[in-house]
Amino acid sequence: MYAESSTWQIILRSRSARDTEAIGERLAEVLQAGDVVALHGPLGVGKTCMARGIVRGLGFAGYVTSPSFTMVNEYQGRLKIYHVDLYRVRDVRELEGLGFTELMWPEDAVTLVEWPERAQEMLPPQALTVRLDWVEGASQDRWIIIGGHGADQREVLRRRLKEICWCSPLTPPDPT
Ligand SMILES: Nc1ncnc2c1ncn2[C@@H]1O[C@H](COP(=O)(O)OP(=O)(O)O)[C@@H](O)[C@H]1O
Ligand SMILES: [Mg+2]
Repeated sequence: MYAESSTWQIILRSRSARDTEAIGERLAEVLQAGDVVALHGPLGVGKTCMARGIVRGLGFAGYVTSPSFTMVNEYQGRLKIYHVDLYRVRDVRELEGLGFTELMWPEDAVTLVEWPERAQEMLPPQALTVRLDWVEGASQDRWIIIGGHGADQREVLRRRLKEICWCSPLTPPDPT
């Protein structure tokens, strides 16, 4: 499991939903307008939980719900945030005319996308990837792999994450 096109990755271990939210909050600290975060992982693993942390970390204090029915939820924190869920999308053509390109290339906002693989070809190549997966034998634990491109934020991000959870060294993605 790795973040395919990233230039670096950090592997984390979350031990609870609260951990995952806290990881999201810290990830939010390094986000800037124009950033896209692709949240990969199976149903129920914690993508919305992570997105909730990111939205909170970006300064929105209200209630954050899953956009699985609305497809897009919008929040205003220190930046505008679009929280997108493509679970119900079966064909990328369903997104035509919905302003989806604008969501994937936000100018003055941050976009968080659950089930990004449903529209992989529309995702910007520089998107940050977050992959969540089950930890065998520990129902509350999750592996979280963050993959990125820009070198500027990675050390800061790792330092902040290390304060709250187990965190691998920064590595290039495993090519296997
Ligand atoms: N370590 C963890 N990280 C995230 N969620 C967890 C964790 N442990 C248990 N959970 C639970 O798993 C569920 C994740 O749900 P959700 O975030 O909606 O998943 P997804 O959006 O990936 O379908 C929540 O009920 C949450 O409380
Ligand atoms: Mg979800």
